[in-house]
Amino acid sequence: MLRKRGSLILCGAFLFITWNAIVVLLLRGRPVPGLSGVPTQEQGEVAHRPSIDVMGDVLRMADVFEAELELQKKILIQIKSQQSLWEPSMRNKQKVVAAPEPVIPILVIACNRVTVRRCLDKLLQHRPSAELYPIIVSQDCGHAETAEVIRSYGDKVTHLKQPDLSNVALRPEHKKFQGYYKISRHYRWALNQVFKTLSHSSVVIVEDDLEVAPDFFEYFRSMLPLLKSDPSLWCVSAWNDNGRDGYVDPGKAAVLHRTDFFPGLGWMLLREVWEELEPKWPASFWDDWMRQPEQRRNRACIRPEISRTLTFGRQGVSLGQFYDKYLRYIKLNAEFVPFTKLDLSYLKEETYKIHFENEVYTAPVVTYEDVKQGQLKGAGPFRLQYSSKDSFKVMAKNLGIMDDLKSGVPRTGYRGVVSFISRGRRIYLAPPPGWTQYDPTWS
Ligand code: UD1
Ligand code: MN
Repeated sequence: MLRKRGSLILCGAFLFITWNAIVVLLLRGRPVPGLSGVPTQEQGEVAHRPSIDVMGDVLRMADVFEAELELQKKILIQIKSQQSLWEPSMRNKQKVVAAPEPVIPILVIACNRVTVRRCLDKLLQHRPSAELYPIIVSQDCGHAETAEVIRSYGDKVTHLKQPDLSNVALRPEHKKFQGYYKISRHYRWALNQVFKTLSHSSVVIVEDDLEVAPDFFEYFRSMLPLLKSDPSLWCVSAWNDNGRDGYVDPGKAAVLHRTDFFPGLGWMLLREVWEELEPKWPASFWDDWMRQPEQRRNRACIRPEISRTLTFGRQGVSLGQFYDKYLRYIKLNAEFVPFTKLDLSYLKEETYKIHFENEVYTAPVVTYEDVKQGQLKGAGPFRLQYSSKDSFKVMAKNLGIMDDLKSGVPRTGYRGVVSFISRGRRIYLAPPPGWTQYDPTWS
């Protein structure tokens, strides 16, 4: 209705202007008073050499023209000032354009497992908007059955195929790692597609054996501004390496942490960081390479108290042992946390660091036996101190948390501290006060 009225007014304005233009043109064609009424030889010459009189006529005509244009301008300005009344939808559109929501593509890394269906079904089930979260499935391995599964999603996902399916030439001792070489090659190709070919500025990477939580998308969107603005961060991950049932606080689903350990397994990366990593991207073991000091450069990731991804990939490149021992027990968050509406400023580096150090180092020191036997008095938190790689490993193993270190950093560690729940109490497995840096020889 409003639109129709708006175009009517515009049409009227157009006709009005056209009419005036015709009038002016006619005026120009007619002999102007004061100019000799009889066509003479002289008049024929006017075109070549204007007389003083003719010049006067032209000037007068220009005046008429000018006044006419002035009038039309006023009318148009009036129409424009009323525009908001007849076309409010246009105003709203302008507002949306001023602050567009960023698009965060989801890159699914697939190969030869038809179970990618479980991953895609969950992504599509929880995705709040197709426009804001385009799903790009990048498939390696050329597996026809898996390709068919991906194809069956039609235009709900974009299906890319990694073109180089050749074996990577390796020396005999490395032949058994062929899979890791292919994964690395695939990651480089797929991330180049996302950032260079498709020109996205961020991405969330999901492997084909991950299932996402209901607030997966909400979580990453809420973290994008912090990741962009804080140079001490280089990733946001959905994964808590110690996120088994009983080791996390079930009442703290909204709580997020910083970690110096790169968790992977559903993580967000910005184009700037990719541009930094891509030229030196490794031929294999890309995740452990990311954990080396030369790449990490003291930067942290954000990770949730309770994981927003679950891995169901028992059959994979690294076989099943690790999966059966740890991964399969990592709990997936079930309740939706409206992260984008929460105050997350506590995660800023200085704020977080000061609060964290204070919290850990004012907590009373307890012994491993106290924790293990459930003899802790009070609500906690409590601090359990380790002073060597071995004491860390022994305590970690016995308390049921991950005991491996990569480039000296324990899983989920922040400034050397691993935070987890044991028998309902928060425990900080921590180095002595005054910690300054990791020792990359601890592994
Ligand atoms: C482990 C890691 C994984 C990491 C990989 C590389 C865990 C639970 N998983 O893989 O995050 O990326 O090491 O160091 O810690 N794939 C290809 N091409 C292949 C083979 C596999 O693209 O030739 C893809 C798979 O589709 C999957 C990913 O690579 O998305 C990892 O493969 P998977 O078989 O799950 O190996 P993991 O042992 O879990
Ligand atoms: Mn896997």
